[in-house]
Amino acid sequence: MENILEVKNLNIDLITEKGNKKLIDNVSFNVGKKQSYGIVGESGCGKSITALAVMQLLSFPLKTSGGEINFHSEKESVNILSLKKNEIRKIRGKEISMIFQEPMTALDPIFTIERQIIEALKFHTDLNKKDMSDMALQMLKKVGIPRAEEILKEYPHQLSGGMLQRIMIAIALICKPKLLIADEPTTALDVTIQAQILDLMNELKTSFDTSIIMITHDLGVIAETCEKVAVFYAGQIVEETDVVTLFHNTAHPYTSGLLKAVTSLGDKSKNLFTIPGMVPAGGHMPKGCRFEERCNKKMKICKDKSPELIEIADGHKCRCWLYAESGDN
Ligand SMILES: Nc1ncnc2c1ncn2[C@@H]1O[C@H](COP(=O)(O)OP(=O)(O)O)[C@@H](O)[C@H]1O
Ligand code: SF4
Ligand SMILES: [Mg+2]
Repeated sequence: MENILEVKNLNIDLITEKGNKKLIDNVSFNVGKKQSYGIVGESGCGKSITALAVMQLLSFPLKTSGGEINFHSEKESVNILSLKKNEIRKIRGKEISMIFQEPMTALDPIFTIERQIIEALKFHTDLNKKDMSDMALQMLKKVGIPRAEEILKEYPHQLSGGMLQRIMIAIALICKPKLLIADEPTTALDVTIQAQILDLMNELKTSFDTSIIMITHDLGVIAETCEKVAVFYAGQIVEETDVVTLFHNTAHPYTSGLLKAVTSLGDKSKNLFTIPGMVPAGGHMPKGCRFEERCNKKMKICKDKSPELIEIADGHKCRCWLYAESGDN
């Protein structure tokens, strides 16, 4: 499969008065053309800042401190990290677009829905006003908005969270991007609306031939939408494989913990399982395995030496001493 995006040894630092703290540590992954690639992990693992780096949207006190983000469009291949501001603007919103968790904060309260949808068209195309309005209307219909003509003239505060998220999807897709990054697109929505939005994204992915990076803390969302998945923990990838293997041949103890949390959701007799302990904070990483404090499979070596991400089966990578030779014991 050809790749649309290749992230190679990405590092992101937090700049502080006492020096830089590494928040993303040598993250590498590839997203195939038309593929749905999932990034999953608890809050604080570095999912959003990784996505922001792909859009070149990191700002002080965060900065990339190494690596490449190669984007392959039909026309050319570019390293996003080396693009100038005017160059990334041509790609952002056109070739790569992003949907955020909170549509209300991403939309501007003082402009109509129509104005916000055609903003990207104004910037990226030469269409006239009538054609832009027609496209906005078509797009609203595609994302399943009822009374689309009327909604175009309304303002964000007049609409529900589910409707606003559909509008965010319309805005993200209006220029037919090659890559759509969805950062927790359904987390703020209630469960039925969540399912509708995920169905909609699956449908649109097929009709637009878009690649998707789906970011979520919820393995249930990954199961519904993704083909391949990377599990993030404390700024690193700890497991990467296809979605079937992740669920049926889970390797990393952290992934097993996340899975337990999903399966107990449907079982009301049990308390919701959460992995005990917390994700270590950026800049305060333990010397050994970053999951060691919380791991129920830990061994002696885990505290002393950090495991590498290695291929444990064809296309299945894992960062854990259970699957690696330590070299010295
Ligand atoms: N603007 C910021 N300033 C300082 N630290 C930040 C900022 N944004 C994110 N971080 C830190 O970076 C780490 C990763 O954050 P984030 O990517 O938002 O996690 P996730 O999306 O997985 O919940 C966290 O430790 C978070 O506190
Ligand atoms: S390396 Fe050790 S502590 Fe880390 S996940 Fe594997 S078994 Fe657990
Ligand atoms: Mg996030």
